[in-house]
Amino acid sequence: MALNTVDLKPRVGSEIRIDKAELLSGGASPAIRQLLEQRGVVIFHGVDFSDDELRSFGGSLGPLQTTGYDDGAQDALVKVTFDKSQQRAGTAGYFRGTFHWHMDELHRDVPPLASILSPRVLSPAGGETEFANTYAAYADLPESEKKSLEKLTVYHSVESAYRKMIPEASEEQIAEWRKKGHKIHPLIWTHRTGRKSIVNGITAGYVLGMNRRDSDALLGQLLDWATQPQYVYQHQWQMGDLLMWDNTGTMHRVLGYDLDCGRRLHRVTLVGEEPLAVAA
Ligand code: OGA
Ligand code: MN
Repeated sequence: MALNTVDLKPRVGSEIRIDKAELLSGGASPAIRQLLEQRGVVIFHGVDFSDDELRSFGGSLGPLQTTGYDDGAQDALVKVTFDKSQQRAGTAGYFRGTFHWHMDELHRDVPPLASILSPRVLSPAGGETEFANTYAAYADLPESEKKSLEKLTVYHSVESAYRKMIPEASEEQIAEWRKKGHKIHPLIWTHRTGRKSIVNGITAGYVLGMNRRDSDALLGQLLDWATQPQYVYQHQWQMGDLLMWDNTGTMHRVLGYDLDCGRRLHRVTLVGEEPLAVAA
């Protein structure tokens, strides 16, 4: 089916105009998935989904990841918030790394395909979420650079992310982060479609086989490259919005906000379909 869409920026992001009943019918879901892969992020205004509607729409796009809770319950819905009163026991905890450019769950062999957010409480200031299209950023690299980057692999871990954020952590803290594990991912992801994107962000520790200084410089330069304004869409949240991003072809981050303001977004996440890791 043909979707009624408006580009948000030339290289990233589309708004889809569709009525809520049609969205919930799932009839548009294959076309939405296709558009998401092309545009990195898609948004809808005035949808105002309930939690059940969010689960149901998410499920029409593909299988959802679930979280197990201490009481034995399994739920696909995650509350993205620093408000402890909203967290259920067993929740892994919302990750401070979210304020830095990242892709979700790169400590897995198969990272999630996509996530969908629906706002519940807005922050009075800040809290805009930004998305960088890493397919578009890759496409614009000089051909000679593409060739050399394609050979490289990168160590990713939650520990690497926290070490950048908290350089003077204790040994105990580091041991805790290490439990999350790590993965070796290619620097350039060749997807099953043949399209290529850059894999980078706060979880990137170092490039294998490269000295530390060169590795830091390369990852830093590539991050700067991929987050230039032409590749980035910044979302200013309004109640009623629905936003989804392709976690395999974008990085994202949230801009600073008061951690005590109660900001809360509800999220469902689509199970990944494409293995990325080349080694544990
Ligand atoms: C996430 C995330 C950003 C935000 O849910 O994975 O990074 O705006 N959220 O809170
Ligand atoms: Mn995230």
